[in-house]
Amino acid sequence: MEKSNLVLGLNYGNGFVLLCKIFLVMLKEQINQLVAQAFEEVVNLRRHLHAHPELSFHEYETARFIQDTLKDWGISSQPMAGTGVLVVLKGTKGESATCIALRADIDALPIQEQSDLPFSSTKEGIMHACGHDFHTANLLGVCRILHDLKAEFAGTVLFLFQPAEEKIPGGALTVLADPVLIPYLDRIEAVLGLHVSPKIPSGKLAVCPGKFMASSDEFYIQIKGKGGHAAEPQLGIDPVMITAQLLTTLQQVVSRYADPKVPSVLSFGRVIANGAANVIPDEVSIAGTFRTVDEAWRQKALTRIEDTIQGIPAIFGAEVALEVRRGYPFLHNNEQLAERFITVVANAEGPDSIERTTLWMAAEDFAYYSQRFPSLFYLVGIYNEAKNCVSGLHTSTFRVDEDAFTIAMRSLLNGVFDLLAKDTVTI
Ligand code: NI
Repeated sequence: MEKSNLVLGLNYGNGFVLLCKIFLVMLKEQINQLVAQAFEEVVNLRRHLHAHPELSFHEYETARFIQDTLKDWGISSQPMAGTGVLVVLKGTKGESATCIALRADIDALPIQEQSDLPFSSTKEGIMHACGHDFHTANLLGVCRILHDLKAEFAGTVLFLFQPAEEKIPGGALTVLADPVLIPYLDRIEAVLGLHVSPKIPSGKLAVCPGKFMASSDEFYIQIKGKGGHAAEPQLGIDPVMITAQLLTTLQQVVSRYADPKVPSVLSFGRVIANGAANVIPDEVSIAGTFRTVDEAWRQKALTRIEDTIQGIPAIFGAEVALEVRRGYPFLHNNEQLAERFITVVANAEGPDSIERTTLWMAAEDFAYYSQRFPSLFYLVGIYNEAKNCVSGLHTSTFRVDEDAFTIAMRSLLNGVFDLLAKDTVTI
């Protein structure tokens, strides 16, 4: 077998290989041209979305805008998961049962934008500060181009414009439970999604094969003691000292029970004891998060954390109110998909355009797709100091370098064509 030629080991003749190579070179050129043509419109779509952000599960105007845009292009769509939108696009090159899903999240955050952009948010206290406007416009552009190229492929591509990534329980669960997807659930062979990253220079991509993002669960705790004069602690039940004891003990869940090879984080970012130097308060409220990348360990750890939260205050006679908010599972990138995608992008854009990245302990509801289907979630660099695109995700000054649309669209399109043509010849 020739070294560079056959991705899945299908042994065709050299003539066939040559024809495939010519076809792929032409297709790549066609994709580059169509992306260049769509670029300005996609930028404008993104700016409209940016100016009109909506919070999770309230993306009514956003969904309407997505459907109207698609309708203008002659692409039919349907509502999905409440405020989401589904497009089912079938290639006309022949019959194929292959089905691939592409996902973009469409919701914004409760942040007051602080930018002087001409298309900054028109909504008080709401902002696209996580780039979901970019993801949505990008998927719209990809949808339009694949629609134009539908004679070039066989198979089905699902476009999932998903609501509510930012809010537990997450829109992905609602998408997966929507009956409109039932005909496809047994057929989906891959789900692809992307996220902008201000840690990566614009024009570059990053991929982490295997475990990529963490599960995330939250704890809301109230320790109810009996307050009083600080000079007479023996007459009360001091919730502050109990909290100190509890937080210290809880750290042992990670340090003594977690397998050191499995990353785990337990952090408490809110501890409020509203007493004074000479006043022991009645209660303390605490909030924290636990993150890891192993579902079995996650279950064990949650039980141990809950038992500790109930147990320590009881020793000292305090009462506890505990709410556990279960978040997203960990996100796993299918290794084969990831390696294949790295090769495809390196071939199309050059080896320096894509780098390997490592585990990130943030959470993403794309994880639900990755737990069910072979999936790939990759990062698109949007950092550009010259354009002042330097702020972190979820900040009021967040900006994206829109030039990143070129590689974002092209990578998704090349990735899709590679997966649809399973006997693809590498170029
Ligand atoms: Ni996000």
